Amino acid sequence: MQRWRRHLCLFLCIHLLVYLNEQEVEQIDSDASPAERVQRAMNCLPLTLEKSVDDSNSSSFRRWTIADYSRAYSSGEITPRKVAEQFINAVHESSRAALPMSFFINYDAEDILKQATESTLRYERGDPISALDGVPIAIKDEIDCSPYPTTGGTKWLHKVRPCTGDACCVMRLRSCGAIIVGKTNMHELGAGTSGINPHYGTTRNPYHPNKIAGGSSSGSAAVVSAGLCPAALGVDGGGSVRMPASLCGVIGFKPTFGRIPHTGVLPLNWTVGMVGILAGTLEDALIVYAAISGQLPSHEPTILPPKLLFPLLNSTNPISEIKFARYGEWFNDCSDEIRICCSNALHLLCEHYKWKTVEVTIPEIESMRLAHYLTIGSECTTSLSSALEKLDFAELGWDARVALRVYGAFNSKEYIKAQKMRNRQMQIHKNIFAKADVIVAPTTGVTAYSIFDDALKTGELDYINGAALVRYQIAGNFLGLPAVTVPVGYDKEGLPIGLQFIGKPWSEPTLMHIAFAMQALCISHHRKPKVFYNLLHKN
Ligand SMILES: *[C@@H]1O[C@H](CO)[C@@H](O)[C@H](O)[C@H]1NC(C)=O
Ligand SMILES: *[C@@H]1O[C@H](CO)[C@@H](O)[C@H](O)[C@H]1NC(C)=O
Ligand SMILES: *[C@@H]1O[C@H](CO)[C@@H](O)[C@H](O)[C@H]1NC(C)=O
Repeated sequence: MQRWRRHLCLFLCIHLLVYLNEQEVEQIDSDASPAERVQRAMNCLPLTLEKSVDDSNSSSFRRWTIADYSRAYSSGEITPRKVAEQFINAVHESSRAALPMSFFINYDAEDILKQATESTLRYERGDPISALDGVPIAIKDEIDCSPYPTTGGTKWLHKVRPCTGDACCVMRLRSCGAIIVGKTNMHELGAGTSGINPHYGTTRNPYHPNKIAGGSSSGSAAVVSAGLCPAALGVDGGGSVRMPASLCGVIGFKPTFGRIPHTGVLPLNWTVGMVGILAGTLEDALIVYAAISGQLPSHEPTILPPKLLFPLLNSTNPISEIKFARYGEWFNDCSDEIRICCSNALHLLCEHYKWKTVEVTIPEIESMRLAHYLTIGSECTTSLSSALEKLDFAELGWDARVALRVYGAFNSKEYIKAQKMRNRQMQIHKNIFAKADVIVAPTTGVTAYSIFDDALKTGELDYINGAALVRYQIAGNFLGLPAVTVPVGYDKEGLPIGLQFIGKPWSEPTLMHIAFAMQALCISHHRKPKVFYNLLHKN
């Protein structure tokens, strides 16, 4: 039995949990340090067969995990310093390719090597801080991170809002010994879904460099996909972590609103946007979640989230009696290949674990999308208002210009109506969650589409593809629900397809159990991207 109440004021979407029935979990003390939480998360992972870093005798492709890095460093097979050098060479190579990948807006080779040298010394002393020590992690350029400016994908925002230090989540990763390798490319102001950025270059999809990576956390998805980092941080205000993750064939995980500290993240739209994780595997998403979750800084305007629970992924009893809510008409509103692939994956999952699917109706999805758009747009122009007064619109890409003009046209009555709609949808979703544990849908309605050369210099507005990309994202942001996308297959062109699970507030452990189960059924079919770097290679 479980009950949850929600409380929505106009400014924040806050879920107050009364009692949640999460299965196979481990409770984490609220005063545990990030490194202690990482260790606890490592203890929740199943034992995997050790795989040497030079073992190429495997028919199926898999990305190196945080555990692989940690093991290779501890055994002395390779050092963080060597990995950092290979990382820098790889990024350099990728930016000089015929189709430049434009993974990063900023990365500083000297700063990376300095962190890597310190980490190497810790391993030499036999004293690494945590499993994340020496592991390269990239940060979306919407999150503050020394020594870099926070551009938000623009040419001007960092000039009016200087970065004064690490965001709280970056600080936590650093305290675990992670090597922060730079600021990933993103859609300008997060105001689009393609990742085509006229100022810093268009991030290309590692599975097919002629296709978009998706956005707005385009670089964070692409670096994980291409093997440059086992995990990266993004920010998800309207699917901005889950969409690019799905298009680039990696895990995208957006926890419940209020679970991850927001201090030091651009306040572009503060009631819908929040930090999320992109990772090659669900295990690595859990480890990074462990590092960055935990207590919120006391000035953050939210209630205390319930106790932190980690899923026992090592458990030999799968969680039982999971019910998926599936709204058929919505689920099927995607390309044939996505529909078939996602339906098959869901079927396989239910067969394998004897879980059930119940048919539901989610009314007013399109109105919810519009209300969300109004909210995100109003918040974006409000938070940027003083900067916008002085801004020369010629400094913006064409699509960002249009977006800011549209956002600026919304009025207060519309904003308030949108919040009423939000409350209504909370109720609607609460009713759905009385019948099922998790809502299931494809992550996107289309796979990565082609980049046209004429968009590279100006940006692009593609409402048809854009609508198909955001179709399944909105509840995660507008209602603050946790959600995760898992790669479940490929289309005819070899482009990744993701399946999404949307959970009740604070049900991260159940979502991770389900995503882990789905991953286990698909991982042996994973394919290697065309652009891929093996950083653990010893040469
Ligand atoms: C799983 O991990 C937990 C936490 O480390 C441990 O207490 C438990 O014994 C492990 N269970 C199995 C089946 O290995
Ligand atoms: C590679 O794996 C196959 C099957 O697992 C095995 O038969 C073969 O001996 C292995 N080759 C090497 C070089 O280890
Ligand atoms: C809103 O902000 C989030 C991050 O906070 C970003 O991912 C998203 O794309 C932004 N959207 C708009 C329309 O500003």
